[in-house]
Amino acid sequence: MKKIIIAVDGYSSGGKSTFAKAVAAKLGYIFIDTGAMYRAVTLYAMRRGIADEPAALVAALPDVHIDFRFNPRTGRSDVYLNGENVEAEIRRIDVSNRVSAVSSIPEVRAKLVAMQQEMGRAKGIVMDGRDIGTVVFPDAELKIFMTADPHVRAERRYKELIAKGEQVSMEEIEKNIRERDRQDETREVSPLRRAEDAVMLDNSRMTVEEQMDWIAGQLERFE
Ligand code: DC
Repeated sequence: MKKIIIAVDGYSSGGKSTFAKAVAAKLGYIFIDTGAMYRAVTLYAMRRGIADEPAALVAALPDVHIDFRFNPRTGRSDVYLNGENVEAEIRRIDVSNRVSAVSSIPEVRAKLVAMQQEMGRAKGIVMDGRDIGTVVFPDAELKIFMTADPHVRAERRYKELIAKGEQVSMEEIEKNIRERDRQDETREVSPLRRAEDAVMLDNSRMTVEEQMDWIAGQLERFE
């Protein structure tokens, strides 16, 4: 099979990363979680106390360096902010609560989209996000738009955070998910929407194995 670009877009906590990571492992492709990049910029802004000051953040953007480095212990890539591994910190709920605002700043998007396009130049990549099939790679060979019931998504994120020892309630998580859906869909720059040529995958009631069977069917046309 010749190397292609696989774009995976959809709502937050919809299982995009789990799915995209498994597809990348199956094909020997690079996996890029673009949400981690927006989260890293958000963390940078929070640490500098400028998360609510778009102009100050835009001015500081040249000082924000993001890269991914393979972690042999977990077998996945971690995101680094100015040389520091911030993989755990960017998943915190206070970062989740601010990331939609930061990711609606056009200059932030321009910087990260350019980086993402560079990462995909050699193809052989599975990238997950909100605008991958519409903005980052409008010519991607395979575009997938994932959906799942908001309540199912909240349950998944709740279990993840509790397992990590965070003190959160289901209500707080569900509220955060619904609010992020709304912000992602209604923002002016690159709102979350399905590319016309994207195939839909509703995984509310699917196991990862079932999703892998589904993708195998989708990949047949590239053989
Ligand atoms: O996938 P995630 O929940 O980790 O993404 C975090 C936030 O980043 C999400 O609220 C929307 C934003 N995002 C975006 O605007 N564009 C992307 N390509 C990926 C994420």
